[in-house]
Amino acid sequence: MVNNKATLKVAGKQIDLNILKGTLGPDVIDVSSLVKNDYFTYDPGFLSTAACESKITFIDGDKGILLYRGYPIDQLAMKSNFVEVCYLLLNGELPNQIQYDEFCKAINRHTMVHEQMRNFFNGFRRDAHPMAVMVGVVGALSAFYHDTLDIKNPEHRVVSAFRLIAKMPTIAAMCHKYSVGQPFMPPQNHMSYAENFLHMMFSTPCEETKPNPILVRALDQILTLHADHEQNASTSTVRLAGSTGANPFACISAGIAALWGPAHGGANEAALNMLHEIGDSSRIPKYIARAKDPNDPFRLMGFGHRVYKNYDPRAKVMRKTCYEVLEAVGAHDNPLFKIAMELEKIALEDSYFVERKLYPNVDFYSGITLSAIGIPINMFTVIFALARTIGWIAHWNEMISSPYRLSRPRQLYTGSVERDYVSINQRSE
Ligand code: SDX
Repeated sequence: MVNNKATLKVAGKQIDLNILKGTLGPDVIDVSSLVKNDYFTYDPGFLSTAACESKITFIDGDKGILLYRGYPIDQLAMKSNFVEVCYLLLNGELPNQIQYDEFCKAINRHTMVHEQMRNFFNGFRRDAHPMAVMVGVVGALSAFYHDTLDIKNPEHRVVSAFRLIAKMPTIAAMCHKYSVGQPFMPPQNHMSYAENFLHMMFSTPCEETKPNPILVRALDQILTLHADHEQNASTSTVRLAGSTGANPFACISAGIAALWGPAHGGANEAALNMLHEIGDSSRIPKYIARAKDPNDPFRLMGFGHRVYKNYDPRAKVMRKTCYEVLEAVGAHDNPLFKIAMELEKIALEDSYFVERKLYPNVDFYSGITLSAIGIPINMFTVIFALARTIGWIAHWNEMISSPYRLSRPRQLYTGSVERDYVSINQRSE
């Protein structure tokens, strides 16, 4: 909604730009007409750039607010469940009981993967990182569903969404089973989403594991906390891939690849490795000093955020869940949790972190919690991808179901001006 105008005076020209107002958050200046005046905007890392309009998730980084379709993340984590949050993110409203039951049934129809997908795993080394396997296997899903790849068809988009929500836990658990050399466990549709995933991860044909309900609830909360986060790097990757008309499975595979980086979804694995490396509270000052040293590439993993300049609201819930899980598994004196709490206390009092508004983010406590649930460290980012799949799909669907254009950023070119080719025998030594 045009709310006002901005005037840009440059090189003797006056360029009027519309200011658009959303329901929450900063107004935006529509610069799309600048190219007609032979100007581009320049914003590496997109710190000041709103790449799209969206109704799905709102973040206020200064106040530490995160809303999924208007509902605060702490209320959803405490009172809802991940499947209901999937419905909310996809459809915009909380379901009534009939809608919820139908949604669960629709997901359960798609929890298995085609038997031939097993063959993909055999091509990987057993010690392949599960994220490498996920990228490959999820991308390959498009080879099995030629019946629903017309992205302009809303029904095809709905079925693709159900397939991805339903199959991600199955594929994720298969990645783990393959890496430990155990047989794949088929999904059990009478179980809840999180319980089914833990079953596929830890049961074997010889022994059914009955996951502790507290751990099941904790995992469900972790999935909710990671479900969406506005235009983060991996979601922007999915949107950009989707703008080319690529099928949803290929777009989600691109999102998984982008999430893998330690600056993004790979931070939970990196944060736990960091706590292991610190090893003892007495070594915290050394690592704080390294994090502050401009010449040392080391950063406190799980700390800082591009948007949050306050405590990540997800980290608050994560810390509480972490403590409950440690209590439940009798590891309340877990040394890593103690180091994490001490590290957080010291960093939050240190002027370097205070001045830069660096706070713990969702990844700081999630690693300890996942580890206490029994999840291997190389599966942490896989679980982040499992959870974020609904966010990626919701944004992909929001983009495709309204008018959109191919995303194609421009650049500030600082390379050579035009010059003629010189044959090799004419070139100087
Ligand atoms: C996720 O975008 C999302 O929404 C992501 C996510 C989601 O749900 O999708 O929330 C998930 O990715 C959370 C973030 C996980 N990453 C980490 O925990 C990795 C450690 N954090 C840093 O790498 C960093 O904080 C980033 C990448 C997260 C944010 O970096 P920015 O916004 O580009 O900020 P910056 O690198 O410009 O840092 C600003 C200053 C710099 O110091 P100066 O040059 O000003 O002196 O803060 C410093 C940085 O050196 N800094 C840190 C630090 N993070 C930033 N110093 C030490 N330790 C850190 N963790």
